[in-house]
Amino acid sequence: MAEYKLLFEHSHDPEFKTLKGYQAKGGYKGLEKAFRMERQAIIDEIKASGLRGRGGAGFPTWIKWNGIPKEKTQTHYVLCNADEGEPGTFKDKQIMETTPFVLIEGMTIAAFATQAEVGYIYVRAEFVDACRSLRQAIDEAYAGGFLGKNIQGSGFDFDLYLHLGAGSYECGEESALMSSLMGERGMPRLKFPHAPLPTISGLFERPTVINNVESYACAPYIIEKGGEWYATLGASTKNSRGTKLFSVSGHVNKPGNYEIEFGTTLTELLELSGGMKGGKLKACVPGGSSVPIINAEAVGKAIIGYEEMAEVQSMVGSGACMFLNEHTCIVSFIWRTAYFYAMESCGKCTPCREGTKWMEQILRRIIMGNGQPGDMDLLLQITQQIDGRSFCGLGDAAAWPVAAAIRVFPEEFEYYIKHGKSMVNTSEARALAPSWQQPVLA
Ligand SMILES: Cc1cc2nc3c(=O)[nH]c(=O)nc-3n(C[C@H](O)[C@H](O)[C@H](O)COP(=O)(O)O)c2cc1C
Ligand code: SF4
Repeated sequence: MAEYKLLFEHSHDPEFKTLKGYQAKGGYKGLEKAFRMERQAIIDEIKASGLRGRGGAGFPTWIKWNGIPKEKTQTHYVLCNADEGEPGTFKDKQIMETTPFVLIEGMTIAAFATQAEVGYIYVRAEFVDACRSLRQAIDEAYAGGFLGKNIQGSGFDFDLYLHLGAGSYECGEESALMSSLMGERGMPRLKFPHAPLPTISGLFERPTVINNVESYACAPYIIEKGGEWYATLGASTKNSRGTKLFSVSGHVNKPGNYEIEFGTTLTELLELSGGMKGGKLKACVPGGSSVPIINAEAVGKAIIGYEEMAEVQSMVGSGACMFLNEHTCIVSFIWRTAYFYAMESCGKCTPCREGTKWMEQILRRIIMGNGQPGDMDLLLQITQQIDGRSFCGLGDAAAWPVAAAIRVFPEEFEYYIKHGKSMVNTSEARALAPSWQQPVLA
């Protein structure tokens, strides 16, 4: 199975970033069609497509859209999560930089379907080119009558704002994102069933749909070509439909973003990205730093699909696939991951605030050569105290990589603790590793 270009069909065409170029390639046909449809029919089309959220959790998109009250009594919002903070992920960045109108059109379709009059794109401010590209596209869309009052004579009004985030990973968590957007501290809120869903009480306590950039970007294609057509893509999998963007990094010859159909194997994705560089495949983190690491044998069996990936004890996640070669020290790699989560924990709840720091400190003492006999058990115990016991998903995301690394590569931890050094040739690993993987200690 090769690359399948749907979202990225025109991503290398600079003209596609302009309204004129976008329309010349069929842009805005989905919205035109949506305006001729009943609102519920649009949601039903998204349901038929089988689209699941591309931000990481794979939640069915139509359920969110359908959850917005049909009787409109107050302002409704659509929010785009363009924070893209998951280490290894850079696919939303490419959508925003190269195909900004697809996102704007997708959000406008979502807004029309859910009767939202205001939308926000919460974008990571470090993505300077993406911010510029979006700013220009939003301005052009207003000038061309595709945003603002009475869009294309439809009678529908929709204003879209760009909001620059300040580089906090936690602000990608949807409730923290809303807090941040409201001018509060970027900390998560109490969730359903202890609090209403965002579709009932989200941004400014109003009904809100929040989706990832890639999720919205699928909407124009689904509406234009039909949900049934979209659902033919990935039909070999249990319940994953369409295409998925993967940001491939690590020890591969051609790192970058690749669009594939669900049902493609991880081995095919590796081949697409030019194969391994500098040594044989040792491990893979298939869906972003939060998801469990797998070994080469599991890579050989892995099919890309939400349920299929669970069969090799990992996840599709946000689609950030890191392939690691035989010279990678898993203990150092996982320490660097733990360091990230310890730094990004917002501190609101005890299991994550304390647990992420402890994990980082224990892993640090191991890679400094001072590991102690009970350290593996201690680490596993801490992961169990964080996983499922934290206030938001960051805690789980911090615990899974550590627990999986110990489960899949126990001999590496045992060796490091016993001998005070890595069992792999780390000098070679350091020379090959991207800089963020190098254990540079403060
Ligand atoms: C700590 C944390 C960080 C997250 N960061 C992002 C992010 O950068 N982008 C994103 O789309 N979703 C992120 N998510 C997931 C969002 O909370 C949410 O599920 C997503 O925006 C929903 O959109 P979707 O249904 O289209 O996937 C994060 C979740 C957690 C727990
Ligand atoms: S899990 Fe971590 S990031 Fe989430 S609320 Fe608790 S301390 Fe904050």
